Amino acid sequence: MTDRPTGRAVPHGTSLAHQSHAALGGPLSVLVRQKRDHVRLDRLIGQLKTTTGREQDRVLLQLRRLVFPHAFAEESVLWPVMRRVVPDGEALTRQVEQEHQEVNELVLRLDEEQLTPSERPRLVNRLIKVLREDVRDEEDSLLPELQRELTVSELRRLGVAWEVVRRTAPTRPHPVVSRRPPGNVLAALPLSVLDNARDLCEVAALRAPRAAGPMHLTGRALGRAATRVERIGLMRRGENPTTHVAESDPAPSKPST
Ligand SMILES: [Fe+2]
Ligand SMILES: [Fe+2]
Repeated sequence: MTDRPTGRAVPHGTSLAHQSHAALGGPLSVLVRQKRDHVRLDRLIGQLKTTTGREQDRVLLQLRRLVFPHAFAEESVLWPVMRRVVPDGEALTRQVEQEHQEVNELVLRLDEEQLTPSERPRLVNRLIKVLREDVRDEEDSLLPELQRELTVSELRRLGVAWEVVRRTAPTRPHPVVSRRPPGNVLAALPLSVLDNARDLCEVAALRAPRAAGPMHLTGRALGRAATRVERIGLMRRGENPTTHVAESDPAPSKPST
């Protein structure tokens, strides 16, 4: 292959964190798009750590709208390519799918209304830890492997495909849905419509607390509709059972009654 990234002076396997945008294939490349989102995520994590209550809810909403479409596009576009072209792609992608699964479960827990005062910071801290691990695994390991196997043109084509999916993907956690095609691809459209409608309700409730009651009711109805979609058997097609092996930070044991 002659069409290699301009940064081939950079040794193979160099973390994305230590490569320039030019070395990663320019603005269209999936590697640059990934790095850009990871920088945004880092900024939101910083805000998450310094906020509480309603202010933290706003940050969490932004974080969800960044993280879930980003991860969904990885799972449906990038990781299938990784498994095809990278020798140990199966093991590498399984690791990040487990991280994504845990992020889904943690955010779902954070959405619950009946959290104890100590649970929320514990879940937020665990979420931050898993998100950071996911970024490091991708930038230091998976994506340099992908860079080694693909040409610049291929990285750019993949970048465009990844971006198209990212912009139309679900924005909320769906831990029941397969992390792999075809289940996640089949679930994308209905869940994306429902998630975006729920996000609009949440934004309205955060902006106008007096309208919060009806907005929360509508949001919950949309959430129930999403749950019904998730439970359709087709949405679990393609799932690797080991994805669910990763344990979330263990929940505090409930006092036995
Ligand atoms: Fe990523
Ligand atoms: Fe990821």
